[in-house]
Amino acid sequence: MGDRHTEGAWNMKVESRFGSYEISFIKLTELWGYLPENCCLVTDSNVVEVIPGLKERNPIVVPAGEESKSFDTYRFVVTELAKRGVKRSGSLAAVGGGVVGDLGGVAAASYMRGIDFWQVPTSLLAMVDSSVGGKVGIDLAEGKNLVGAFWAPKAVLVAPECLKTLPERQFKAGLAEVLKMGFIRDPELLNLDRENPQPWIERAIDGKRQVVEADEFETNGLRATLNFGHTIGHMLESRANYQGILHGEAVAIGMVAEAEFGEYLGVTPAGTAEKVREVLAENGLPVELPTDLNPTEALKWLQLDKKSGTKTLGFSLLTGIGSCKLKSDIEPSQVLEWLETR
Ligand SMILES: NC(=O)c1ccc[n+]([C@@H]2O[C@H](COP(=O)([O-])OP(=O)(O)OC[C@H]3O[C@@H](n4cnc5c(N)ncnc54)[C@H](O)[C@@H]3O)[C@@H](O)[C@H]2O)c1
Ligand SMILES: [Zn+2]
Repeated sequence: MGDRHTEGAWNMKVESRFGSYEISFIKLTELWGYLPENCCLVTDSNVVEVIPGLKERNPIVVPAGEESKSFDTYRFVVTELAKRGVKRSGSLAAVGGGVVGDLGGVAAASYMRGIDFWQVPTSLLAMVDSSVGGKVGIDLAEGKNLVGAFWAPKAVLVAPECLKTLPERQFKAGLAEVLKMGFIRDPELLNLDRENPQPWIERAIDGKRQVVEADEFETNGLRATLNFGHTIGHMLESRANYQGILHGEAVAIGMVAEAEFGEYLGVTPAGTAEKVREVLAENGLPVELPTDLNPTEALKWLQLDKKSGTKTLGFSLLTGIGSCKLKSDIEPSQVLEWLETR
């Protein structure tokens, strides 16, 4: 875990092939002091209204929402960088949720072949998940995150105060990723106290740090285990055309379903799915697959998943509460059978 240098200040170092970087807990009032002078700020239309001092710093503002992880918005951002005269020695800070982080990261990775990048995550999901690990990306009509890069930030600056303005539904969606870390690695995270978030945010970040350090470029299967709940979650998101369901909500439903599927395959101990369901429901997250889910249609979406081989499907399955393993040799027929009999 991180070192506490002084009261309130906290740092964790992430080792990366791009060099190491720090994740620091800061107070919002200190934020501007951490960023380089003349750092170009990218944010979205919601966040610009809630972070004190942001608007005055003339940020590049993109519309809030996943639609901004697009080529059009990417072009807008890099064009703004050019118009503002940002040089190769310049820097960009993404102040916002995962959308701004991913979009800003692609701009930073590619503008002038790469400029310094800072992550200032303001949503819970961005704090515990998307800002850590150096992956950045934008979407195509053909699928999410199909264009992107590994571009490690100079630092990640986390101000938990930002959560005060985060809508409840978004907060819960972020919680789903924290609880996921609990299910796959660190059961302590399953007893979190919402009123006192910093300790468990630190713990969740540390879990992600350990995983990305051990498998930065997703080559040994460890990083792919973070996808627990995501194979089915992504299927639910694509099927809904990313409308009406948040990523964290889809992952919550996906975690229950994948725990049940793991039990069906004999990989996950009996009773685990029930525990997963209980914890997620207690935290106000959805846990039921849509009643109108057609197994054949579901399989079609699942086969588009990035973790799928040409014939087989990949799942990160629980081997208990607090441990998991990647199974990449699942036959489509096994999924279909399970969906039909459940
Ligand atoms: N790069 C990665 O490793 C990685 C990992 C996980 C997810 N992601 C990506 O992250 C994205 C989702 O991130 P997200 O859930 O943060 O979505 P988001 O960026 O759309 O933020 C969610 C909503 O909350 C608002 N918001 C953010 N911070 C706020 C604050 N402090 N106060 C009030 N409103 C605030 C935003 O404007 C938005 O409306 C997806 O595109 C996903 O693909 C990337
Ligand atoms: Zn996720």
